[in-house]
Amino acid sequence: MIKVALPKGRIADKTLQIFESFINKPLCFKDRKLILTEGNFEFMLVRNQDVPIYVERGAADIGVVGLDVLEEQQNSLVRLLNLEFGKCKIAIGSPNHYKMDFSNPNLKIATKMVNITKKFFAQKAMSVEIIKLYGSIELAPLVGMADAIVDLVETGDTMRQNNLKIDEIIMEVSAYLVANPNSFYAQKLEILRIQDYFKTQIQC
Ligand code: PRP
Repeated sequence: MIKVALPKGRIADKTLQIFESFINKPLCFKDRKLILTEGNFEFMLVRNQDVPIYVERGAADIGVVGLDVLEEQQNSLVRLLNLEFGKCKIAIGSPNHYKMDFSNPNLKIATKMVNITKKFFAQKAMSVEIIKLYGSIELAPLVGMADAIVDLVETGDTMRQNNLKIDEIIMEVSAYLVANPNSFYAQKLEILRIQDYFKTQIQC
C-alpha cells in the first residue's frame, strides 16, 4: 500500500489526474471525505503546509507539495521530482511609491515564510525585523505595519491591485513529488515506478 498526501485544491486535482491514468481508474474524493482508497493506493487530502509533516512522520509515503513549503520547513524528505506545475514565485515587494533600500538596517518585513525571509536577508548580511502573518500579507505595508513583504506571486494581480511592486524575486517555485526516506527505501521499486510515470506525464 502506498499512502499519498495531497494538498487540497488545484495541485491535488492535477496530481489525481496523473494517478488516474497511472492506475487506470477514476479517482474522486466524495463530498467532505479526506481519504480515498483505490487498489494499492490510499490518497489523503491535507493542508498544503501540512504535507511535509505527514510524509516525514510516515503517515504518508509520498506527497506533493510546493517548493516554498519545502524550503520554509526544511524537513528531511527525498525530493523525487519537480512536477513543473503549480508555478509561482517568492518575491519581495513594497508599495509602488516606496524606494526599497536594501542597506536600511531597520526594514520591517511582513511574511508567512519566516525562514525563507531570514535566509534571504542573512545572505545580504542584513538583520531585519520580520513580522509573521498567516495571510493577506499585501495588507501590511498598506497600513504602515511593514515596509515590505515576502510573499508568493502567481498572476501578480494581488500585488498590482494593492499598488505594490516586485523589488526582487527570491525563488521560482513549483510542486514537487517527495517521499519519506524510509518508505523510499522499503518501497523503492513502486515509488520509482510512480516517479518514472510522473516524468513521462510532465514532459507532454
Ligand atoms: C497567495 C499569496 C498572495 C496571492 C498571490 O495568497 O500569498 O496573496 O496568493 O497570487 P496572485 O499573484 O495570483 O494574485 P492566498 O490566495 O493563498 O491567500 P492568503 O492571503 O490567505 O495567503
